[in-house]
Amino acid sequence: MKIIIHAFVLLSLLALSTPIVFSSPPPAYEGRRLYVSYCLLCHGTDGKGDGPLALAMEISPADLTTTVRSRSDTILKKIITGKGRQTITGRDRHNLLSDAMPEWKNIFSEPQLDSLIAYLRFMSNTKFQLMGDPKLGMQLYQQYCHVCHGVDGDGDGIMTDLIGIAPMDHTNPNETNQLTNSEIIKSIIDGKGRFMPAWRGILSQSDAEALVSYIRLLSH
Ligand code: HEC
Ligand code: HEC
Repeated sequence: MKIIIHAFVLLSLLALSTPIVFSSPPPAYEGRRLYVSYCLLCHGTDGKGDGPLALAMEISPADLTTTVRSRSDTILKKIITGKGRQTITGRDRHNLLSDAMPEWKNIFSEPQLDSLIAYLRFMSNTKFQLMGDPKLGMQLYQQYCHVCHGVDGDGDGIMTDLIGIAPMDHTNPNETNQLTNSEIIKSIIDGKGRFMPAWRGILSQSDAEALVSYIRLLSH
């Protein structure tokens, strides 16, 4: 009986220590996906209010890279859903925001709204452009980088204890913002220090650019 229990405990431990490769996508990453589908047409690729539909509109879509900064999350939620827009700062809703901005009602779940807002904040804060496709970046990251940088990108992958290294925490903007896009690309292609591998020959320039976009969204 005791042996069976031991075997059971061992098996459960093994199951626990199996690396979980997929985790939920980072909020700004998910927010960008939603933004591209629902907001880009009016607000434009970079959020500056110059999407293709903007030309046809009487009221210009807002430049989200500047307007969003002074808005709290609560107010942004009201603006996006339309629920309670009229009560914003007690002013008449038409003073603040016209109906030209669609009321999205219940189209987005609460976590999706949080993700959208995370991406709006990313657009208004970031000093660095997204370069490649973040979706490809996420796939490559989960394939090649998570063993050291961690499934969530916070630098505690399964290899860190095994070889005693401290890879960069890609969720920390104070760390990633110190590097320009081209410095990140160089470190990916040429490697860095003793333990960050050079991915030359495995990853192309455009793969590295996709990883840059993913890392930027991750560290927001
Ligand atoms: C059909 C075009 C259109 C679409 C699609 C659209 N917007 Fe807008 N949006 C506008 C217009 C026009 C305004 C400016 C309204 C005004 O000034 O009265 C605006 C304003 C805003 C503002 C207010 C900016 C501020 O602080 O003053 C936010 C935030 C915003 N939009 C977010 C979004 C998000 C997020 C999406 C996607 C889910 C989205 N919009 C989709 C047209 C659009
Ligand atoms: C074998 C473990 C390991 C793997 C796998 C790994 N890294 Fe790293 N990475 C490190 C370590 C360790 C550092 C810290 C290097 C230093 O500063 O000495 C690092 C640092 C970095 C940095 C910061 C470089 C700089 O200039 O300071 C970036 C960006 C990075 N890694 C991206 C990636 C990407 C993208 C992948 C997947 C394609 C990846 N890493 C895979 C271990 C790893």
